[in-house]
Amino acid sequence: MHIYYFSGTGNTKVIVDKLAESLHNSKKIESESKQRINKKSKRDNKDISRDKSYIETFKITLFNKDTVVKLPTTESDQINHRTVIVFPVNTHATSPFIWSFLKRLPKAKGEQLYIIYTYNNSAAIGKSIQRMVKRKGYDLRMLTGILMPNHMISDPEQAKDNESRLENGLKLCTEIVSDIKSGRTRIDYKTNGSKLLSFFNRNTPLVWGGSMRLFFKLNVDHQACTNCGLCVEECPVKNIKVKKCKAKSMSENENTQRSIQSMLKHKGNCQMCMKCLANCPMKAVGIKGNDKISLVQ
Ligand SMILES: Cc1cc2nc3c(=O)[nH]c(=O)nc-3n(C[C@H](O)[C@H](O)[C@H](O)COP(=O)(O)O)c2cc1C
Ligand code: SF4
Ligand code: SF4
Repeated sequence: MHIYYFSGTGNTKVIVDKLAESLHNSKKIESESKQRINKKSKRDNKDISRDKSYIETFKITLFNKDTVVKLPTTESDQINHRTVIVFPVNTHATSPFIWSFLKRLPKAKGEQLYIIYTYNNSAAIGKSIQRMVKRKGYDLRMLTGILMPNHMISDPEQAKDNESRLENGLKLCTEIVSDIKSGRTRIDYKTNGSKLLSFFNRNTPLVWGGSMRLFFKLNVDHQACTNCGLCVEECPVKNIKVKKCKAKSMSENENTQRSIQSMLKHKGNCQMCMKCLANCPMKAVGIKGNDKISLVQ
């Protein structure tokens, strides 16, 4: 089973980990009960060792060639092969790089596809995904949303609600795994968002390069940043650039000197996934002029 996913602030990763754990456990139980029934333990032991590679996960980025979906080519591959895609909703749609990943899915011949998105309140992308993957020839077995914690609003009511969202989300994972295992179809995406917003946001980088970044301009606190490089490496669209520049520093005898320092700069292709903000170990990434928006984990 191949799970392709992207997670900015961590919600989707929580879901992917839970799905992988539940899928792995149910596969292990299956193999163990097979082992009990069948005395030919040598062959069954081989089955269990194969379980380790039963689930493979791949991170979706704009550039990583590994995240081009590979469909099974041999008949034996097809027995266990399912493609699962998990991603967050972003402005009623999803980030353009994830939409472009979905558009790049290869043509299929009835291979099973499972799509799950995580969201906070409003989405309007299900219908378009359903039409697109059907046109590509997939057997769409799942298209569903999981309501997850809202990390952007930090009031006590929201914190309480976040707890129950997480609990319900994890419970839903167990149901989803049971559907996957039993071959039940689950197509129950939400349509409570704006279709127009969804269309523009997923298809036009202009929305991101323009209006979104006007309100949510990301910047790095260079005093706090240790240049660890994590955000540069993890940005799915390579939007963070390392710039060498002259910086003032104080020498031991307190004379001001100039030295060359690496500084980070967010370029113009940010897709507001918030990964750099959520993952920085020094909490050095923030939204310029908007201290109210921060991530509560
Ligand atoms: C910039 C931005 C825009 C978002 N837009 C929406 C939206 O339109 N509708 C919605 O339901 N959730 C929206 N969300 C919330 C995320 O979809 C939700 O928190 C998701 O679980 C995040 O997954 P992640 O933590 O894996 O990135 C948005 C989040 C961000 C950061
Ligand atoms: S992750 Fe944080 S500390 Fe590391 S380079 Fe990025 S901004 Fe600096
Ligand atoms: S710069 Fe940060 S928020 Fe923008 S796309 Fe890259 S990781 Fe996501």
